Amino acid sequence: MTIKNKKILIIIGGGIAAYKSLDLIRLLRKSNNEIKTILTKSGKEFVTPLSISTLTKTKTFEDIFDANSEAEIDHISLSRWADLVIVMPTTANFMTKLSHGKAEDLATTVILASNKDILLVPAMNVRMWLHKATQRNVKILKDYGYLFIGPEKGEMACGEFGEGKMSSPRQIYTYIDHYFNKRNLVKSKNFKALVTAGPTREYIDPVRYISNESSGKQGYEIALALDRLGIKTTLIIGPSNLTTQKNIKTKKIVTANDLLIETKKSLPVDVAVCAAAVSDFKPVVQNKNKLKKNQNNIKPIKIEKNKDVLEYLGKNNEHRPKLVVGFSAETENVNKNSITKMKKKNCDLIIANNVSKKGIGFNSDYNEVSIIDNNGNIKIIKKSKKSYIASKIAEVILDKLLVDDRSFN
Ligand code: CTP
Repeated sequence: MTIKNKKILIIIGGGIAAYKSLDLIRLLRKSNNEIKTILTKSGKEFVTPLSISTLTKTKTFEDIFDANSEAEIDHISLSRWADLVIVMPTTANFMTKLSHGKAEDLATTVILASNKDILLVPAMNVRMWLHKATQRNVKILKDYGYLFIGPEKGEMACGEFGEGKMSSPRQIYTYIDHYFNKRNLVKSKNFKALVTAGPTREYIDPVRYISNESSGKQGYEIALALDRLGIKTTLIIGPSNLTTQKNIKTKKIVTANDLLIETKKSLPVDVAVCAAAVSDFKPVVQNKNKLKKNQNNIKPIKIEKNKDVLEYLGKNNEHRPKLVVGFSAETENVNKNSITKMKKKNCDLIIANNVSKKGIGFNSDYNEVSIIDNNGNIKIIKKSKKSYIASKIAEVILDKLLVDDRSFN
């Protein structure tokens, strides 16, 4: 398959591999794609605006304040115009700028203002690539959602050997081809997702309730990641400080019972991800008035079990989603207990996390999880930002949906 009729913005960075951007432009132009380029100041040391515009048939963009530019503001219009933004070569210095959110020239400003995926194509000396500072930047940028291809192992322009060589134009072309094919395929399938997130509150009286520490972040990030992949997503979320997103249908709930009602209303869906930290119990009686402490006969609060939403979905005969994904918060025998939970609730995937570890999980921006499927395959994602973990979970979900879908046809 070939990429056709796409609009691709290529930012050409300063490195010896910059000349290879001309080959990529040639490959993309051959299959009828429109290319615009931003040439950075150091990129200009390696390739000329004339050689680029000869291939793109349009001018290169260079300055943030360009008197000859069209009426629109370039740093906004360029990213809105593009279907994908590529930075090649991406230097160590450029990654430092991106990881700090700098907007000091046209290239960095366009990226900061972008609403599109950004593919970074690193190229540098092996020592620079392996330096802790660079690796830290790579991690930050992956957490922010930047895509990466390479670098590859090989002999470098400086004569040293190792990881740092830029992926070839052909490899980048194949990557982009795969990227657009997958997006087109997802769009044509019209997949729908439901994500539950956050805590629930079970009221004892009008001012007191049973709840937990959940911030709702992990489920919220999963909803965003599924939406980014082109899956129409509904988010059902308990009390939290997170802001609603334009593309995501969001239903705010309070109790486990509300969660169950809204879940039922949201069916059918292709995938359900239950990330909510649902309160397992609720008081049998919710007192209309505030309980007074000076009552003579203080009674114990009687509690009863809430209905399990995940189990309801997993065992639903009428509208079982093709993929039911549960979470499992454990403090010991994490994988073993999670697998037992997955079987009991008839899920296809379970995301296991060890809630006894400090600095991850509840009330943190970080998490560490194992994604376990019902064939016993385990994928471990070490401590990372919840946004990064969400994108990895979303990728696994999409791959499973696409495989399942093929077998259904
Ligand atoms: N869950 C749910 N409805 C409930 C309770 C839990 O949908 N009433 C879902 C959670 O969203 C999560 C999964 O079940 O996806 C597992 O929750 P967890 O708290 O780890 O386990 P429990 O089933 O509650 O069991 P236990 O507390 O005994 O570990």
